[in-house]
Amino acid sequence: MKNILVTGGAGFIGSNFVHYILDKYSSYNLFVFDKLTYAGNLDNLSEVQDNPRYVFVNGDIADRETVNEVVITHQIDTIVNFAAESHVDRSILSPDAFIQTDIVGTHVLLDAARDHKLERLHQVSTDEVYGSIVEGRFKEGDVFEPNSPYAASKAGAELLVRAYHETYGLNTVVTRGSNTFGPYQYPEKIAPLFITNAIDNESLPLYGDGLQVRDWLYVTDHCSGIDVALHQGAPGGVYNLGGGNERTNIEVTELILKYVDKSRDLIVSVEDRPGHDQRYALDSSLLMSLGWSPSKTFEEALESTVKWYQDNERWWRPIKDGEFKEYYLKQYGNRLQSRL
Ligand code: NAD
Ligand code: DAU
Repeated sequence: MKNILVTGGAGFIGSNFVHYILDKYSSYNLFVFDKLTYAGNLDNLSEVQDNPRYVFVNGDIADRETVNEVVITHQIDTIVNFAAESHVDRSILSPDAFIQTDIVGTHVLLDAARDHKLERLHQVSTDEVYGSIVEGRFKEGDVFEPNSPYAASKAGAELLVRAYHETYGLNTVVTRGSNTFGPYQYPEKIAPLFITNAIDNESLPLYGDGLQVRDWLYVTDHCSGIDVALHQGAPGGVYNLGGGNERTNIEVTELILKYVDKSRDLIVSVEDRPGHDQRYALDSSLLMSLGWSPSKTFEEALESTVKWYQDNERWWRPIKDGEFKEYYLKQYGNRLQSRL
């Protein structure tokens, strides 16, 4: 492994992964390939822009010609695919881009990996492919029951990855990560949305009763989990990657308010998300058997994330004043007017 194509590397987890890998492996060259959608942001990579082992290429993973050109030009041997439309609420408003990027785009990358005989393709997947679980924790062999267009598009991508391993012998590996939070997360997801709204004394729109459970994972731990699976995972292997921190949304909201030092009065209960998954929980013992474990407690990681958003207004303020504004009105306008 020497020349890695990091697709979606200008997004939240992808950019954290670029920092993590450049720091850890002094012989790796990273080629970030990113369409720079609303969620892609070169500011996330400004610290490495002068690093001689980092190159940025603007492109779409569903564009076969460009993908092939990049793979050939830069002698790529490995692909780590973060590129995706990643937000459940946007997939409910408009699924098209999810099918195009998450399924068609992954297919193009698989073909490129096969045609150019790459060493490995790592698909960054999600616990949402399983759907919701009432009790216990999902294991890797459990059935797929995705409930949102986003989750279904990620499940479709994974099925293609599996087929390319089984049929063509492509050396694939998949990680199914749980809800991730940390620096550089676009403020549409609950943690950065509620942190930045709280800083601005704006309402925190909690869906339904707020009792849905997510399994929280700090972004650096997500990156180290991908690193372990990428280097040590079995060919065709699939690994759950969960933080083991199950919390209800109301618990997360209250902790955020505590760390930002704002009142509970900011919480507003609004209409629920359609098809809202009640609970996600992962059994990550398979990845742990390869030596991975999370490094920080949930509370430590959330507190330091709050601090990062407090210290980095120059990063998120232009986002919230830009594209995000229109989306926020569309997504929350009616909900906030007819709060429950
Ligand atoms: P993100 O939305 O922050 O970033 C996605 C990146 O992909 C952006 O830089 C965007 O510009 C790029 N992109 C989108 N469409 C593209 C295309 N057609 N071609 C090239 N680039 C494109 O997402 P994230 O939260 O960092 O998630 C990264 C990956 O991890 C996704 O595959 C997501 O499904 C998965 N995942 C996310 C979480 C989470 O909690 N955020 C948890 C588990 C898995
Ligand atoms: O589980 C992994 C998944 O986690 C990833 O695959 C997705 O890319 C990522 O977006 C995330 O999906 P969720 O839908 O769980 O994340 P989100 O931050 O959108 O919502 C988390 C929970 O908070 C969910 O139960 C819905 C709730 N919520 C969310 C928002 C944005 C609210 O109550 N209010 C909100 O405004």
